[in-house]
Amino acid sequence: MIKTIEYVNGVVRMIDQTRLPTEKVFVDCKTIEEVGEAIKTMVIRGAPAIGVAAAMGVSLGADTIAASNFDAFFKRMEQQCDLLGKSRPTAVNLSWAINRMKQVARDAKNLSIPELKARLKEEALTIRTEDISINQSMGKHGQTLVKDGNVILTHCNAGALATAGFGTALGVVRASVNAGKNIRVLANETRPFLQGARLTAWELKEDNIPVKLITDSMCGFFMKKGEVDLIVVGADRIAGNGDVANKIGTYMVAVLAKENNIPFYVAAPVSTLDLSLCSGDKIPIEERTAEEVVNINSKRIAPEGIEVAHPAFDITPNNLVTAIITEKGIARAPFTESLKAIVNKK
Ligand code: MRU
Repeated sequence: MIKTIEYVNGVVRMIDQTRLPTEKVFVDCKTIEEVGEAIKTMVIRGAPAIGVAAAMGVSLGADTIAASNFDAFFKRMEQQCDLLGKSRPTAVNLSWAINRMKQVARDAKNLSIPELKARLKEEALTIRTEDISINQSMGKHGQTLVKDGNVILTHCNAGALATAGFGTALGVVRASVNAGKNIRVLANETRPFLQGARLTAWELKEDNIPVKLITDSMCGFFMKKGEVDLIVVGADRIAGNGDVANKIGTYMVAVLAKENNIPFYVAAPVSTLDLSLCSGDKIPIEERTAEEVVNINSKRIAPEGIEVAHPAFDITPNNLVTAIITEKGIARAPFTESLKAIVNKK
């Protein structure tokens, strides 16, 4: 199994996703600041993986706090968390993980400081383990929507690399394969950061799951030809009404799916639901550097001085979403009710 992120001997070790697939190298983070930098520079990316990294980062930060009482400890911890929380804005799993770690500290305020630090480390490890089992449960639900022989189109990378393991959208693919179904994947390359070409293609190939790489602009061609049975993508944040923020280009895929009567599914853990937002309009969209658009593999492809836009995510409105697959079950429209029910489900 691909080890996206681990926490061993006071070091958070991540596979460097900026170097895949040509090089499989690891980055060791020894401080919360290094974890924040790894998130910002996309050494680690994908909403659930960002959440796991953040939890481990909080634990690394806590270990450095020299305080003799809880109030002083927590004040410093909050300052560290505020900084880490600014590393990327769209994936809600970042603040979800930070808030969970802060709550753990509050609940353990009566412990000694060394015990509190140990408790935070234990929680970070739990978040990692839980993420893998959540993805497996999501896969079990999701695979009921997949038939033997289906071709699944996906956008970006919502796989083992975007999580602690198994994946969300690719977790549905893996669970379908594990259930004995013959599945093929069509992977959009996902310009400009190429998560599809570099990461989805790599991890599916590693697992011997049949995958064909296409450029983003080809997906409508294959949908119209009847060569796509369903779409499964991940999400960075889902608003209370079921609007979905995911990698730039997802909206285009969803519109094409609707036009061609192809089901469009979103696979995401409950930690990606943000019911505090009533619609996708309220989700902050990260604007990334122009360098990622005008260069491919450090090779300039556009004229110097050209004006560039680079929104890293878009919003797919709920009317284009057939269903949302979570670890607690599958939600369908009207999402305002079904998502609330999913969150409250034991
Ligand atoms: O910019 P990225 O690579 O972090 O964007 C990732 C995505 O958009 C994924 O689809 C999403 O985080 C879901 S990952 C299970």
